[in-house]
Amino acid sequence: MRRRLRLCREAWLTLLLSAALGLLLYAQRDGAAPTARAPPARGQPPRSTSGLRGRGLPQTAAPPAYEADTPVPPTPTGPFDFGRYLRAKDQRRFPLLINQPRKCRRDRASGGPPDLLIAVKSVAADFERREAVRQTWGAEGRVQGALVRRVFLLGVPRGIDSGRAGTRTHWRALLEAESRAYADILLWAFEDTFFNLTLKEIHFLAWASAFCPDVRFVFKGDADVFVHVRNLLQFLEPRDPAQDLLAGDVIVQARPIRSRASKYFIPEAVYGLPAYPAYAGGGGFVLSGVTLRRLAEACSQVELFPIDDVFLGMCLQRLRLTPEPHSAFRTFGIPQPSAAPHLRTFDPCFYRELVVVHGLSAADIWLMWRLLHGPQGPVCAHPQPVATGPFQWNA
Ligand SMILES: *[C@@H]1O[C@H](CO)[C@@H](O)[C@H](O)[C@H]1NC(C)=O
Repeated sequence: MRRRLRLCREAWLTLLLSAALGLLLYAQRDGAAPTARAPPARGQPPRSTSGLRGRGLPQTAAPPAYEADTPVPPTPTGPFDFGRYLRAKDQRRFPLLINQPRKCRRDRASGGPPDLLIAVKSVAADFERREAVRQTWGAEGRVQGALVRRVFLLGVPRGIDSGRAGTRTHWRALLEAESRAYADILLWAFEDTFFNLTLKEIHFLAWASAFCPDVRFVFKGDADVFVHVRNLLQFLEPRDPAQDLLAGDVIVQARPIRSRASKYFIPEAVYGLPAYPAYAGGGGFVLSGVTLRRLAEACSQVELFPIDDVFLGMCLQRLRLTPEPHSAFRTFGIPQPSAAPHLRTFDPCFYRELVVVHGLSAADIWLMWRLLHGPQGPVCAHPQPVATGPFQWNA
């Protein structure tokens, strides 16, 4: 029976991988890089336009081959109603509908608290990507001796209340089944929208401080990133979880967008200063256990702000803590590796030296994992140097 199940899973994996390869070939035939989710060219570096990264912006460069693979992200659909946001802002505590209270519990098998908790922002419909993350970089267990645990952070899918009566129970039942199968779903009762990601942030920080108080480090990121967990653990190895640390793709001096036409318009009444505090791109960053607990406390006292990573920057500022820039966190854009321009981001040697790369489909994640962790591993002529310096927008 077990064997049959395993065979079944392997057949399923093979099918998925063949689909991934098919998509890769299709995309290459069209001469498009499958991961070229480059932010729309605006001719200016991010710090002089806005604090918003490519994530969430209209994906004009996304190749059509991947559209079916990517469920609708919680992006804004119309002009943002600030009046409503400000009026509702004080309601910032929502019940936890699905919990994983034993996620970080010590038992005989684990021996101690997790060394690394991986928290991934996801939406209910995004099952396929959660599955890819589970089977690849988000796998639980021991990685080079470190104990890794994983949770997915979800809200209530939007528009559920207006749907047919059956829809509501349908998605809840599915998520509950998924939670029973994997014990990694956290679901809160707020609507899962782009502008509610800040609620996700504060609820996660509060949850982790309560249910995972002794965790050494936390990685928090999007479901469309590829994380090189071994590199991440290597980076964390000399760090002390009792010392403050928040490292990632740091953006400094980002100016709020004051143009009403932009979906990311922030009026001066909402944020009056000329620049946002330094913040780490929400695509993926890592923090220490002590910073997690201090941030949970600090964020509970900062007024809600509709952009989640800027909000976290505000909490950091309250703690007088500067986020640490790390060049191997690429949450903003992927510069093409110079040695293999035709392969672009599909060169596993490019990934070998990085920690986080943003903008991947489920198929990309599978493929990259297989290439990097296959029996032989990638044959790289020489280690690809990690390009340093700030991210440049393609002109
Ligand atoms: C956030 O979630 C709450 C509770 O579900 C909802 O009332 C509100 O409209 C959402 N806010 C945004 C900006 O989507």
